[in-house]
Amino acid sequence: MKHLIEPKDLTDQEVDGILDLADRIIADPKTYAHKCDGKKLATLFYEPSTRTRLSFEAAMLELGGSVLGFSSADSSSAAKGESVADTIRTVQCYADIVAMRHPKEGSAKVASLHADIPVINAGDGGHQHPTQTLTDLLTIRRLKGRLDNFTIGLCGDLKFGRTVHSLIRMLLRYPNISFVLISPNELRVPDYLRAELEAKQAKFKEVERLEEIIGELDILYMTRVQRERFFNEEDYVRLRDSYILDMDKMKMAKDDMIVLHPLPRVNEISVEVDSDPRACYFKQALCGKYVRMALMLKMLGLD
Ligand code: CP
Repeated sequence: MKHLIEPKDLTDQEVDGILDLADRIIADPKTYAHKCDGKKLATLFYEPSTRTRLSFEAAMLELGGSVLGFSSADSSSAAKGESVADTIRTVQCYADIVAMRHPKEGSAKVASLHADIPVINAGDGGHQHPTQTLTDLLTIRRLKGRLDNFTIGLCGDLKFGRTVHSLIRMLLRYPNISFVLISPNELRVPDYLRAELEAKQAKFKEVERLEEIIGELDILYMTRVQRERFFNEEDYVRLRDSYILDMDKMKMAKDDMIVLHPLPRVNEISVEVDSDPRACYFKQALCGKYVRMALMLKMLGLD
């Protein structure tokens, strides 16, 4: 793969290769500590981020490379009206690989069309977030020991949630996965994704109440209702607390269910849940660094 814009850019073999390499890095980080000596990662973040930007940067630093970039559009020449195309043409004069987040769907694709260096989509609006998906796969594989034969509940904002869109697309490649899509009616998965689930004859159902089905789940993937994607503050306020995972609901879940969340969370997981051993979202954030190390090594041909 030259660029990573969405999950379909990765073959099944490439996904396996990235996850296997991430496991090897976790087991033996010293072997990889100088693999990217002399290499530079540019992080072009037109939209806020904590985990994605910092885990990309930590990943490159732990591989021996360097990082440069910006963390908001305001601090770049985008504020003066520079296009994504011109920005990427410029940045490739200074860096070997780019991770880019942008509020507009399709922006990373536009960047890749003008880039001679690899471009990684670090989230484009409500569209896709493929490195979060690799993070999710690594976390599930390490905690559950498999990427097949489970029931996953995806809960919250399934309409605008790019992490959910990328994860569903990727999990459709694996056998015997049942999807339970838990959302208010207004925040159901987009039609194109429901059509993909139907076309692949995936087992899936759409429900509104988490309590009804939490006992069936092997994995519960919570998401935030994203204020920044709403056109109307009233709708956001009405929907933001649709789901709050607390210990009363956790008591209804299986003993070996795991709770994931791409984070940041607002109210959708009570802090009391953090001390439950099934709460795995901070382990997931750590997996994000290792999977991005593996991804960059692969994309730079240094694995
Ligand atoms: N998961 C995720 O994308 O988090 P950030 O917005 O903090 O990068």
